[in-house]
Amino acid sequence: MEKLAINGGRRLDGKVMLQGSKNSALPILSACVTVNGISVIHNCPDLTDVTAALKILEHIGCRIKREGHTVIVDSTDANRFDIPDKLMREMRSSIVFLGALLARFGAACVSSPGGCEIGLRPIDLHLSALRKMNTYINETGGFLECATDNLCGADINLAFPSVGATENIMLASMGSSGETVITNAAREPEIIDLADYLKSCGAEIYGAGQSVIRIKSGKKLHSAEHTIIPDRIVASTFMACVASAGGRIAVDGVCKEHLAPVIPVFETAGCEVSAKRNELVIKSPERVSRVKSLGTMPYPGFPTDSQAIVMAMLTKAKGTSVISEKIFENRFRHVPELIKMGADIRVEDGRVAVIEGVKRLCAASVSSSDLRGGCALVVAALGADGKTVVDEIHHIDRGCEAFEICLSQLGAEIKRE
Ligand code: UD1
Repeated sequence: MEKLAINGGRRLDGKVMLQGSKNSALPILSACVTVNGISVIHNCPDLTDVTAALKILEHIGCRIKREGHTVIVDSTDANRFDIPDKLMREMRSSIVFLGALLARFGAACVSSPGGCEIGLRPIDLHLSALRKMNTYINETGGFLECATDNLCGADINLAFPSVGATENIMLASMGSSGETVITNAAREPEIIDLADYLKSCGAEIYGAGQSVIRIKSGKKLHSAEHTIIPDRIVASTFMACVASAGGRIAVDGVCKEHLAPVIPVFETAGCEVSAKRNELVIKSPERVSRVKSLGTMPYPGFPTDSQAIVMAMLTKAKGTSVISEKIFENRFRHVPELIKMGADIRVEDGRVAVIEGVKRLCAASVSSSDLRGGCALVVAALGADGKTVVDEIHHIDRGCEAFEICLSQLGAEIKRE
């Protein structure tokens, strides 16, 4: 098992190039199935989750070529609508293939994703929407068998603006007749990116990024080229790293607009943040200040994916911070590990963390329980005294490309062992 060993207390300085967004890459790769042709996807991050998505595409019958950060997907000969359980389990978000397979084949056979590290993650909203689009779904023994003889557009009002459900509906609409209108749709930048890719293939989608998305169906999609947006969550992770370790860094290749929900939080903590064009510069204060109250929300609220890393930064803040996790029910699994490092955190009702800032964190042997929680341990370790060892880093590799190499370039003492 690989681990990361981090000698804390080194100030960070320099520039890091931001990777492409994982949460954009995965739905866009599945969207390639809806196209009868070749998709050239640039800025695709090199991550284990992306490798898992490519394995699924290959199983379906697509031809894949990977050239650096460009992935070429030829889906002309795609001929299967099943995804084996083993491949489904490699990546939880593989559920986003459901809509794409239905659009292409009018059928899909996948295993049910079930809960994961951060919560139950039901897919009821995905399934009820697809049923409304005239899909018959049989759920037995952990498998989903879906079939339709005529996928129809529908008016779908989501009870919660689920990112995955919005994506699955958009993807299924690529093979339906009539118009689909999603109300209370997710507004995340990754939804806009998926729409932009589909539009470049000829789809007619209006309102992506807003609460009402309108999709005109019946268009045959053609080959296209697309560049994935920068990863706003990894950008915020680098920001938390410098806030914890101290120093000043530049993150190159950001989209400042996507970081609007997180920049004010770092500013409240006393960081100086400036962004010119696509470069963001962040300078830490001597010691960060508390953030009195912070709650995770759907975009444009503060992202749940940045909750753990910001909590790690606040463990050493002056004063008491309170963080409420409002999206997932089990997203505080990094807390016991941070406590091992000397953090003073109390969790109330499983959803609210009260963080009393301490002056110092100490090195410890800690274990990642999920992707962002693992990153949070690295954030804390960079600002802790001594050598911290972070275990189970396969979680981190799901979403952060060459994390330790980027941090080394910034002056951190970090090694994969
Ligand atoms: C996506 C992101 C994930 C991010 C999350 C919230 C990807 C690959 N993953 O996950 O990184 O943390 O958005 O921004 O893009 N829910 C239901 N029923 C459903 C669907 C969702 O109850 O059918 C609930 C979930 O349990 C959760 C909430 O809605 O409590 C948000 O889930 P959702 O927005 O769907 O997140 P994901 O698409 O799974």
